[in-house]
Amino acid sequence: MSYTLGLIGYPIKHSLSPWIHTQFFERTNIDGSYSIMEIRTEKNFLEEIKKLKAQELNGFNVTVPYKEKILAYLDELDDQAKKIGAVNTVLCKSGKWIGYNTDGIGYLRSLLSKFPELANDKEKRILILGAGGAAKGIYHALIHHGFHDIMIANRSIEKAKNILNTNERIMTLQEAEGQLEAFDVIIQTTSVGMKPNHDKSIISLHRLKEKAVVSDIVYQPLMTSFLQQAKSLHRSIHFGHTMLLYQAQYAFEIWTGEQPNMKNMDEALQKILEG
Ligand code: ATR
Repeated sequence: MSYTLGLIGYPIKHSLSPWIHTQFFERTNIDGSYSIMEIRTEKNFLEEIKKLKAQELNGFNVTVPYKEKILAYLDELDDQAKKIGAVNTVLCKSGKWIGYNTDGIGYLRSLLSKFPELANDKEKRILILGAGGAAKGIYHALIHHGFHDIMIANRSIEKAKNILNTNERIMTLQEAEGQLEAFDVIIQTTSVGMKPNHDKSIISLHRLKEKAVVSDIVYQPLMTSFLQQAKSLHRSIHFGHTMLLYQAQYAFEIWTGEQPNMKNMDEALQKILEG
């Protein structure tokens, strides 16, 4: 069979997903295509959905600004998507559209592929910086894996409550900065530090624990100011573009049942991002 896949969102002309999934088709010897299906925001979304239904796709990814809007058109939702309240992957099967969210699990796969020793140490103390959609996905994936000592630090405390439903595990960014030595893994999920504001870092990392792993989901630039601080302190770092690769790997698996081999994908994507 040949798979017809794609991406909806806006703007998505420069998306890296077509390149990633073309690599996956080659690596799995599966026949198929992955196309950009841009939906401009001034369009009638329902009409665009009808057009998509008529296309008989096998599946598609959903990105900004439609990750929540798509929910109304789905027949079923998997557990992670339900918890997160947003969908980035749709499987079209037997006339039904089933929604998944592969962002959090993809992030976790990328982290554990680089630091496999973390997988069995559920006692690790984890700090998430930020409380947007990405933070929510990552939080639920960490919980699903069995991690339980997770704190969230955010500029707005109210927004962090949307994820945790309690004040107990919420901190301000200043508190996080002052108590950094308590954490084994620090995950930066906000857009702070993204081009063109690449000189910005959400907090200072001078109090990092000696063996801390520092991760940033921003990948433009690859080496953010946040990661650069950690590197200067000789701590382990984890780059944001790997989340992009592994959320795609999990989506590809949902659509085709095959898990693509990731050998050298990281380096190849780094080269593309560095131009
Ligand atoms: P996404 O869905 O991509 O995660 P989002 O929902 O817009 O994006 O969330 C953005 C996150 O970045 C939020 O945690 C936001 O903090 P607030 O909840 O206080 O708004 C955080 N953020 C964005 N810009 C920030 C800045 N300049 N300083 C601190 N936090 C910032």
